[in-house]
Amino acid sequence: MTDKLGDMRRTHHCCRLTVDEIGREVVLMGWVQRRRDHGGVIFVDLRDREGITQVVFNPLVDEAIHQKAHVLRNEYVIGVKGRVEARPEGMINPNLVTGEIEVLVTELKILNVAQTPPFLIEDQVDVSETVRLQYRHLDLRRSRLQRNLILRHRAARAVRRYLDGLGFLDIETPVLTRSTPEGARDYLVPSRVNPGEFYALPQSPQLFKQLLMISGFDRYYQIVRCFRDEDLRADRQPEFTQIDVEMSFVGEDDIMAMTEGLMAALFKTVLDKSLERPFARLTWKEAMDRYGLDKPDIRFDLELTDISDIVAHSGFRVFSNAVAKNGIVKALNAKGCIDFSRKEIDDLTDLTAVYGTKGLAWIKVREDRWQSPIVKFFSDEEKAALTERVDMAPGDLVFFVADTPKITNESLGHLRNHLGKRLNLINDSVFAFTWVTHFPLMEYDANKKRFEALHHPFTAPLEEDCDQLESAPETVRSRAYDLVLNGTEIGGGSIRIHQPSMQAQVFKALGLDREIYEKKFGFLLDALNSGAPPHGGIALGFDRLVSILCGEPTIRDVIAFPKTQKAACLLTGAPSTVAKPQLDELSIRVKPI
Ligand code: AMO
Ligand code: AMP
Repeated sequence: MTDKLGDMRRTHHCCRLTVDEIGREVVLMGWVQRRRDHGGVIFVDLRDREGITQVVFNPLVDEAIHQKAHVLRNEYVIGVKGRVEARPEGMINPNLVTGEIEVLVTELKILNVAQTPPFLIEDQVDVSETVRLQYRHLDLRRSRLQRNLILRHRAARAVRRYLDGLGFLDIETPVLTRSTPEGARDYLVPSRVNPGEFYALPQSPQLFKQLLMISGFDRYYQIVRCFRDEDLRADRQPEFTQIDVEMSFVGEDDIMAMTEGLMAALFKTVLDKSLERPFARLTWKEAMDRYGLDKPDIRFDLELTDISDIVAHSGFRVFSNAVAKNGIVKALNAKGCIDFSRKEIDDLTDLTAVYGTKGLAWIKVREDRWQSPIVKFFSDEEKAALTERVDMAPGDLVFFVADTPKITNESLGHLRNHLGKRLNLINDSVFAFTWVTHFPLMEYDANKKRFEALHHPFTAPLEEDCDQLESAPETVRSRAYDLVLNGTEIGGGSIRIHQPSMQAQVFKALGLDREIYEKKFGFLLDALNSGAPPHGGIALGFDRLVSILCGEPTIRDVIAFPKTQKAACLLTGAPSTVAKPQLDELSIRVKPI
């Protein structure tokens, strides 16, 4: 029952037809979004990637074609030839770009039929993401996802144009490679020709881009896939895309200026939005002190206040003990929130407990007194000092956490973000960028009983801190920087170590034995020994950037074929078991599960 395409050729995309085309004969091709029968006349909303156009089958124009249109069902693929007409008065649809016109059909080709789809192809689908991902080819027909992927394409093009203009070279790097330490687990690929040996998929092209600088390429970029086996979240996928950049003969300011220009070009091209530059800058310490997180959402205030000194000798043991044990006590003043119920406070206590807190103390500031389970412990001096430091005024609800600096900051930082949303303090139309600089070079991992690089082990330490590398490595600050947009880390980079002796010193401070680092990174040390220019770079999370540009809460909605929380592709059924002969060929035996 289907027709051949023959020599029928499309003249326009559906959304390209406006009143300017009235009277012209056009050919459209696409999918039947909906068919409506209205007293003899059949209307079809025809859909392609650009939008929808109403096409009309009128028996007074052509009886046979009208008859044929009766079989059309949702998702049938058709081609129509017809004349563009103005819609009659009262039939105009202001919600459609093409709402003022329709196409009166004089030729219809049914190019293919379709089964009834498992869900309607509409923007607001009431169906689980599992079903959507299983039928991703249908899900992707929805205009929202089409718009997202078209925007993603435009964003990538803007990035390439900008970097090309600055003389960056697009150079590919291997996907089958050796482990690069970016802090996640590797995806391994067995080597058939080298039984028992594995490649790692790159967590980033970090070492290759440094080698390219050593080779003299000077400015490199790549829009590149990276692979990390880590716990997934709304803004994390096992394979994701970076705008990866490296430059020679530069310092932090050069990389930041280049990146700010890139963001400005991107937002201008894609959203026609001008960004204010230079972006804000915070040191890591400032970010932690004021916002509790290294990716602060600076669209709203609600800052944290350290009160450790005030309560160091308090009668409230929870506070004074925390300070005695090198912990800290911090407050968050939720202004005007005195009416929060007990239940709400309990929920917030649960929220902070996720980050390891042992409790969430609070004080409601009434006109004449403080209402709080802990008020009885404070002296008048402590109360006065708190009132001033935390700016406590009648109507306020003040929260406190006493714990290690890590737990205190992280929990209150997330509480702050939560309250920012809950209290409508966030202006959604603002794009607030900030750099976070001077991260600690390494932090102690109590489980592994050794230091771990906070960024990666090729990041240069701040020159003035270098002499503490051996004596107090945890106090050494690095030349790393992150770019944060509206509370999301959208990029990170650093100035690299370019002297082999310094690289060896940092490996040593990280607790790597000479034998181990020479085996793993000997090629890098060799390269550094061969005349390495001072260099640095950055990688921007392209999926995260695009999701913010699209206003989507998850990066899954800006990736054509994303994976689930369990790293599965529901469409293809990956990952899957493989047959024994294939395993044998790879010299692999799978343990029974
Ligand atoms: P980093 O590890 O900070 O740096 O990664 C850079 C940016 O990539 C994004 N990102 C992710 N996006 C989606 N899913 C993930 N699983 C994921 N992991 C990271 C984030 C992050 O800011 N080689 C260094 C860069 C450098 O030093 O130049 C690197 O990869 O937005
Ligand atoms: P308790 O003395 O255990 O009854 O705790 C009194 C109040 O202090 C309760 O509201 C607890 O939630 C809170 N609290 C307990 N431990 C901490 C802590 N480490 N930081 C902040 N508040 C705490």
